Amino acid sequence: MGYALAGEALRRGARVILVSGPTSLYPPPGAELRPVETAAAMAREVKKNLSRADVLIMAAAVADFRPADRSEQKVKKEEAPPALKLVPTEDILASLARPGGRSKKVIVGFAAETRDVIANASRKLREKKLDLIVANDVSREGIGFDSDFNQVVIIDKKGAVVESPIVSKREISRLVMDRVEVLLGRKK
Ligand code: CTP
Repeated sequence: MGYALAGEALRRGARVILVSGPTSLYPPPGAELRPVETAAAMAREVKKNLSRADVLIMAAAVADFRPADRSEQKVKKEEAPPALKLVPTEDILASLARPGGRSKKVIVGFAAETRDVIANASRKLREKKLDLIVANDVSREGIGFDSDFNQVVIIDKKGAVVESPIVSKREISRLVMDRVEVLLGRKK
């Protein structure tokens, strides 16, 4: 979804910084690609570039936890712990929710849900102080992860809910960018 959104923003004349985890996709021509491999690196890269952005769209399914320890060497099975200790990663969007500096920016989040999609996504919209949230049911076969198709529910701050049909990610990107353009107009 992130690559599709980047392509659509470029087609509409935006300058695009694409902060991306590892993927087999080719970045859309014209995007400034910032490859990252960890949630911490993604957080750093987003914060570094945020002051230059009018719009932040966080489509990444960021890992919520990381292993507490890492080893430079291969861990032999005799030495391996019986359970991996995990520590939380920083929630990038939530860390930006502090007051100041973002009132004119349009901030869009995604919500990956498997149940109570609208209720859960609406809570994320509120708690992360977003302008828009794009929710998808990631338990459904054939859409979302590893697919060119998606079906989403777009929820705004006023609680308006718009459900898309199952369409290409390019088509979803058009729907999202139409909403972003309206919000940008209001925030100028
Ligand atoms: N997100 C983020 N940093 C994280 C985790 C998530 O910025 N460490 C962003 C995602 O890019 C997305 C939004 O927060 O725009 C919601 O992410 P999601 O994975 O759906 O939910 P979580 O907030 O992680 O909550 P939960 O896993 O409990 O559903």
